[in-house]
Amino acid sequence: MRISLYSRTIRRLVLGVILLAWSGSAGAETGQPAWLRYARLDSATADRNARVIPRSVLTVGSSAPIQKAGEELVAGVRGMLGGEPRLVTQLPAEGAIIAGTLTDLRREHPGLIPDGMVATDGYWLKATTVRGARHLVIAGQSDRGVLYGAFTLLRKIGVGESVASIDQKDAPYAPIRWVNEWNKIDGSIERGYGGRSIFWEGGHIRDDLSRVSEYGRLLASLGINGISINNVNAEPIVLSAEFIPQVARVADLLRPWGVRLVLAIDFGSPQSLGKLPTYDPLDPAVIAWWKARADDLYKAIPDFGGFVLKADSEGRVGPSAYGRTHADAANVVARALAPHGGVIFYRGFVYDHHMDWNNPKNDRARAANDNFRPLDGQFDSNAIIQIKHGPIDFQVREPTSPLFGALERTNQAIELQITQEYFGQARHTVFLPPMWKETLDFDLHVGSGGPSPVKAIVSGRTFHRPTGGFVGVSNVGLNANWYGNHLSQANLYGFGRLAWNPDLSVAQIADEWTRLTFGNDPLVVRTISRIQLESWPTYERYTGPLGLQTLTDIVGNHYGVAVEASERNGWGQWHRADDKGVGMDRTVKSGTGFIGQYAPAVSKQYETAENCPDDLLLFMHHVPYTHRLHSGKSVIQYIYDSHYAGAAEVEQFLRDWDGLKGRVDDERFAEVRAQLDYQTGQAIVWRDAVSRWFAKASGIADERGRVNNYPGRIEAEAATLTGYVVKAVTPWETASGDGAVECPAASCTAAFQFAGPAGKFDVTVRYFDVNTGAARFRVKLGEHTVAEWTAADRIPTRRIDGSSSARYVLRDVSLASGDTIVVEGTPDAGETAALDYVEIQPVTSRKQ
Ligand code: GCU
Repeated sequence: MRISLYSRTIRRLVLGVILLAWSGSAGAETGQPAWLRYARLDSATADRNARVIPRSVLTVGSSAPIQKAGEELVAGVRGMLGGEPRLVTQLPAEGAIIAGTLTDLRREHPGLIPDGMVATDGYWLKATTVRGARHLVIAGQSDRGVLYGAFTLLRKIGVGESVASIDQKDAPYAPIRWVNEWNKIDGSIERGYGGRSIFWEGGHIRDDLSRVSEYGRLLASLGINGISINNVNAEPIVLSAEFIPQVARVADLLRPWGVRLVLAIDFGSPQSLGKLPTYDPLDPAVIAWWKARADDLYKAIPDFGGFVLKADSEGRVGPSAYGRTHADAANVVARALAPHGGVIFYRGFVYDHHMDWNNPKNDRARAANDNFRPLDGQFDSNAIIQIKHGPIDFQVREPTSPLFGALERTNQAIELQITQEYFGQARHTVFLPPMWKETLDFDLHVGSGGPSPVKAIVSGRTFHRPTGGFVGVSNVGLNANWYGNHLSQANLYGFGRLAWNPDLSVAQIADEWTRLTFGNDPLVVRTISRIQLESWPTYERYTGPLGLQTLTDIVGNHYGVAVEASERNGWGQWHRADDKGVGMDRTVKSGTGFIGQYAPAVSKQYETAENCPDDLLLFMHHVPYTHRLHSGKSVIQYIYDSHYAGAAEVEQFLRDWDGLKGRVDDERFAEVRAQLDYQTGQAIVWRDAVSRWFAKASGIADERGRVNNYPGRIEAEAATLTGYVVKAVTPWETASGDGAVECPAASCTAAFQFAGPAGKFDVTVRYFDVNTGAARFRVKLGEHTVAEWTAADRIPTRRIDGSSSARYVLRDVSLASGDTIVVEGTPDAGETAALDYVEIQPVTSRKQ
């Protein structure tokens, strides 16, 4: 008696803890439940559904996805609406949420759901009344469809959409909705910004895989059905016998969520791992080796999804070693997978990164099309070419890759990058769905009838292909909030929603995500959605407008500003800015001919500067700085204006965010505020660096007099220095004035004298925070210390440059003419407490 009471109590406690964790109300808001918080809804939102949602949940069928659907429904309804929802085993007289496959429901409960079909992996949500009882039916075409339907119902409740008389069928737009995780087996992540791998550590699969199940749940809520868990720059060892049981553990955790496991492979594996003398795709021993690997994998993981292969690209080996084609390479693997129903994703990201910069006809943008167009029709039916959305590499703006239009007899998938490699690496908020949507909707004018937007091509509709779809490079990590920035989660959400239905509007996606993640307070929804929706054009404005590409450190960390890093090397991300003009001539008439890779209706638009949209002008054309845009503004003045506008917009994001204090939980409020504050400071670095670089290159001054004129700024080089020494900074444009000062001693000071009239000021100290140590700074006014901080941010550089440039702002400082602001720096572990400038701005000039 006592034992059973005890165990019942324990069971209740455990369930309570799970539900609290799910509902997001257990203590701090870490961001971990993402958009599946199931937090209690405000009464206005809850009222739309509270009375029509039955509190009994009946699942029909015992598969894991259906069980998961049942658990989610109970947790979601309890969290959002309250009451005592529970799983039942019989249809109760007062009505229930009933979830099962269409086939099972028709068999077990005839009359519940009328005649009608649901497409593959889709669902039917239907409110129905049978013998006076009101039911909400979730009928899936498959087990997965049931789970997708359950998540959809919960989403509708979460955003406050009435489901009282719902009768909605939905199904995914394309069969492939996958994510790639560029995780290395040592646990690091290539281009990942949210901490270490949730899958790997120390050369093997992690012992603790709890975040994998949670991630599977997030993916399932979006309808994502496949995941590769290792880097495309793949380590051959993942295919070894010792790894298969480890990888199978991951597959077991993802299966209940309807997500299939995929591995990235190295094409040289038959030789490096299999010890064969060759990896020639036509060699019989190599063919047999791939077949044996696939057979082994399917024994351990019967629903294994397939492989991703990056070959002959960025130093990876490939078929060219034997004079074979990409089709030969894809097909040898495809044939090993085919008997098991697996697919191979062969990456279209193939180019030569040792191209001669001096040859004006060379063009990396041409590479994918040049490599794959001639092979159209030669790939097996379970091979899919995975194509990055633009012809270069996830730059801030690129045209749509012409390769989508070139492959009529080959399966395709679009590769979108969720992780923000060239988009501020989660230190900047950039909501990417508006950019993706432009590509997905872009009509390539191919095929025989009607519009041919990219979404229709990759899903297989335009050219009647058997498969295809959407792949997102996600790169979540162990950070509680997955990406290192709460607002970056919206990119995964947006990717999943567009992969399910690319016709959704980005405004709807931003609105849904915000409601589910931060609640339905109208000011919160309006503010966060607006920040998200404006964030990509804003980022473009303060990094690389007009098709210049991101203007970041191409040969380094891909993070901070470095205008010329793209030039004079073989990587091919050239913008060719010099003292006369700027832009890549990709025309057919005089340039690289890239534009000729599009169908005539598209190339006509790009071939002349007059027709070319301004935002791609410098991607397609080399023009003088005085060239007039469609707006009438000169190119050089646009470069200046857009950088000032972009930086001001980020500052506005921060002010808008401040308006949400008390309306968003304190933890996430503070973390997002810190991120936006940092982004505001970095946008100023970008603004100044790019505009000064172009002012110097062009010799044309800013009409509005802002560039090279910074009121209130006192350069560190001009301060009275004790111990500090002046250092040139590379690239020069990333430090204000003539460089920075570094402290080669135990500590140093820089004294900045204020010469203006007395008043209240905001004082910005611009310093450098590299990733080697944690230097300390102290600011003194007279005898008083007015600020102290440690430079211990996680910035991806050891160098003093645009990436490490940071700021500390002291607000409301009273100064009189002649006052001296002394900054004392104490270096630490190779970090030299470097300073760039101090800027003193009257409080009255602060924007409200
Ligand atoms: C980018 C990225 C690399 C990655 C490559 C790819 O170039 O910087 O880290 O390996 O894309 O997509 O293969």
